[in-house]
Amino acid sequence: MRVGLLTGGGDCPGLNAVIRAVVRKGIEAHGWETIGFRNGWLGPIEGLTKPIGLNDVEDILTRGGTILGSSRTNPYKVDGGVDRIRTNLAELGVDALIAIGGEDTLGVANRLTDDGIGVVGVPKTIDNDLGATDYTFGFDTAVHIATEAIDRLRTTAESHHRALVIEVMGRHAGWIALHSGLAGGANVILVPERHFNVDQVVDWVKRRFEREYAPIIVVAEGALPEGGEEILLTGEKDAFGHVRLGGIGQWLAVQLQEKTGKEARAVVLGHIQRGGTPTAFDRVLATRFGLQAIDAVNEGDFGKMMALRGTDIIRVPLIEGTGQLKTVPAERYDEAEVFFGS
Ligand code: F6P
Repeated sequence: MRVGLLTGGGDCPGLNAVIRAVVRKGIEAHGWETIGFRNGWLGPIEGLTKPIGLNDVEDILTRGGTILGSSRTNPYKVDGGVDRIRTNLAELGVDALIAIGGEDTLGVANRLTDDGIGVVGVPKTIDNDLGATDYTFGFDTAVHIATEAIDRLRTTAESHHRALVIEVMGRHAGWIALHSGLAGGANVILVPERHFNVDQVVDWVKRRFEREYAPIIVVAEGALPEGGEEILLTGEKDAFGHVRLGGIGQWLAVQLQEKTGKEARAVVLGHIQRGGTPTAFDRVLATRFGLQAIDAVNEGDFGKMMALRGTDIIRVPLIEGTGQLKTVPAERYDEAEVFFGS
């Protein structure tokens, strides 16, 4: 019996930990042979494979990125994409697939299951915005990186009496902004879920300057001013229709400088949040997802996604994880507001 693995969408720390867990348990506990597909869904479409045996997964637990490579390929947008996957799996003798990805990759996994291909999903994303799971791996690492950046930026902001705006990732969900902002003691946190009033932000920033305390503003890339539009890096869309965001931090810094008369600078953390070694939390979560995923394959429990509920790893239908994004609830944002401006 052979199981194929792929990693799709934006990479995140912990992908290799899942691969290692699947390979180790697949071979040692269930006697499955494992084969990697390169570059997300492009791999099974084009038949691009990479052997992944026990020796290939040595030393990858701590490594960021993915040894399989990734892409944002959508088989439903490629001519004959699904049929090519079916043919390649049959030719390679692959009985089942484990897809490790976010809403787009797992959305495809869900459709393929309906189209008769046996797929099991493992949720990943630094954005933590997949439904049905308390956390996705990658998020904890990204929050640590962003928090460390805030800590560092605070000391230089204080020395120069400047406002510092830190733009973090988060297209539709402000989890990274909320958690790193709270952990780093930011005095304004802006998320996509709550459109902000620029004058209100200016007022918070001024109050902080009055206390001779440099303001730190954490803004998610998808945050919007009231009545404004998303700021795009380019007009291009990927195969799942997502635009490339970026620039809200710089826009806000200009507004703040003009309206407060104090210097304001912007820093974009960007892909730094996705790189490097995973935290212990993410290594453990990714490993437990991988162990559960290979068990699901072994039991023929397809169309399921692994999920963390409390401290348990459970299996839920893929649609539960991908049907609706998990955004920051209003009450979680309100909770943080007591720190704004003070
Ligand atoms: O989905 C994860 C994510 O990091 C988002 O936070 C971000 O908007 C997007 O991916 C960036 O994608 P790319 O690396 O393809 O530009």
